Amino acid sequence: MIELVYISEASHPFSLDELQDLLTRARLKNASLDITGLLLYSEESQRFIQVLEGDEYEVNRIYDAIVDDPRHTNVRLLGSNKITRRDFSDWRMGFSLIDDSLPDWPGVSDFLAQSAKPGQYLSEPHQFGRQMLMFFRERLQQNRDENDASHINR
Ligand SMILES: Cc1cc2nc3c(=O)[nH]c(=O)nc-3n(C[C@H](O)[C@H](O)[C@H](O)COP(=O)(O)O)c2cc1C
Repeated sequence: MIELVYISEASHPFSLDELQDLLTRARLKNASLDITGLLLYSEESQRFIQVLEGDEYEVNRIYDAIVDDPRHTNVRLLGSNKITRRDFSDWRMGFSLIDDSLPDWPGVSDFLAQSAKPGQYLSEPHQFGRQMLMFFRERLQQNRDENDASHINR
């Protein structure tokens, strides 16, 4: 079993309908292939980050299809590692918007609602994929804080 993490840039700003459509199809397929994971989308930066977990062959096959998907570009593989257990075992593909408005869809993860304690991702034995997601979330939060600060100082 492997976990695979990538980031990408949306080809255009995604509407909630488009995201929902993407997720509905992805979850059906992931369920049939026993692939789990989490997808985050930032409306601010129009970036995706996704963790895929599952059988090595199936994950690589899905990833090849994802790389070819014209809905995003600059797909960059951050890592691909062998794992013995899943971090997202309950999620056929959890989803969260990074930005403020979290739609109330079934399956929208509470990932971002969890408190991000400093160093949390170092002290807890999570795998690379989950750590990357936490890092991504914190970086976005920092950017937002810095923007807010420069706004106040102006
Ligand atoms: C950001 C992003 C994430 C995606 N995640 C998944 C996924 O987890 N599982 C999946 O099957 N397809 C995912 N897709 C869709 C695939 O790129 C592709 O459209 C799909 O696998 C094609 O399936 P089909 O040939 O059965 O229609 C994603 C697409 C994008 C743009």
